[in-house]
Amino acid sequence: ARIAAVVVAAGSGIRAGGDKPKQFRTIGGETVLRRTLSALLDVAAIDVIQPVIRLEDTSLFKAATEALPPAKFNAPVGGGATRQESVRAGLEALASQAPDVVLIHDAARPFASRALIERAIAAAEKTGAAIPGLAVTDTIKSVDSHSLVGETLDRSSLRAIQTPQAFAFAPLLEAHRRAHREGRNDFTDDAALAEWVGMQVVVFDGEAGNIKITHPEDFMRAESMQAAQLS
Ligand code: CTP
Ligand code: MG
Repeated sequence: ARIAAVVVAAGSGIRAGGDKPKQFRTIGGETVLRRTLSALLDVAAIDVIQPVIRLEDTSLFKAATEALPPAKFNAPVGGGATRQESVRAGLEALASQAPDVVLIHDAARPFASRALIERAIAAAEKTGAAIPGLAVTDTIKSVDSHSLVGETLDRSSLRAIQTPQAFAFAPLLEAHRRAHREGRNDFTDDAALAEWVGMQVVVFDGEAGNIKITHPEDFMRAESMQAAQLS
C-alpha cells in the first residue's frame, strides 16, 4: 500500500510563547520540526511526507529541513487559520498522488517512536481509522460555566488521544471536503471528523513519551527527555 504522512506545522504556537513558533525552536540543538520529520523518515513504509506550514515561515522551514534526504518530501503547502484547515490543505496537496493510507501528525510531537508510527500504519491498514490513546490517570469531572461539578466521568472508558492518527486516505479527504462545504471548522482532531461521517475509529496504544509541545515548560521536559535518549 502507498503510505503518506501529513505533518501540520502551520500553527503560531501562542501558548508556548518564544520568538518564533514552537515547531521552529530547538530541543538539544535540533528544531522540533526536524525531529518530527526525522521520526517519520525512519519509517521505511512511509512513501511521501507532506509538510503544511505558514508560508511566511518558508525560510524557517528551509533552515529546519536543510540536508534532510529530499526523496520522500513534497514541497510544503500553506496551512489555514485552524488545524483542521491545515490538515485539509495537506490532504488536497496529496490528492493527485492518491495514497491508500495517510497519517496525520502534529509537528509539535517530536518524540513519536518508530514503533508507535508503525502501529498506526498497521492499525489503519486493518481498520481504516486508528488513533493512539492513553488511559487517563487523573480523575476527570465535567463542570458548568460556574465551575460547579456536573459529574465524575468513568475514567476506565476514557482515553487521552495523540497523533499520529491514521486513516484510509479517500474517506478522510471526503470527510474534510464535506466539513468545509458545510462550514464546520470546529473539529479538534481528524478522528472527530471521521466519527462525524460515520467511520468506525479504533484506538491503539499511544506512548507517554509522545508529548505535544504546548506550554513553555514543555521545552524543559523535552530537553531532559532528549538528554535521556542520548545517555
Ligand atoms: N497547526 C496547524 N495549523 C493551525 C493550527 C495548528 O498546522 N492553524 C498545527 C500546529 O503547528 C501543531 C499542531 O497543529 O503542530 C497542534 O496544534 P497546537 O499544539 O494547538 O499548536 P499551535 O496552534 O501552533 O499552538 P497554540 O494553540 O498555542 O497557538
Ligand atoms: Mg492551537
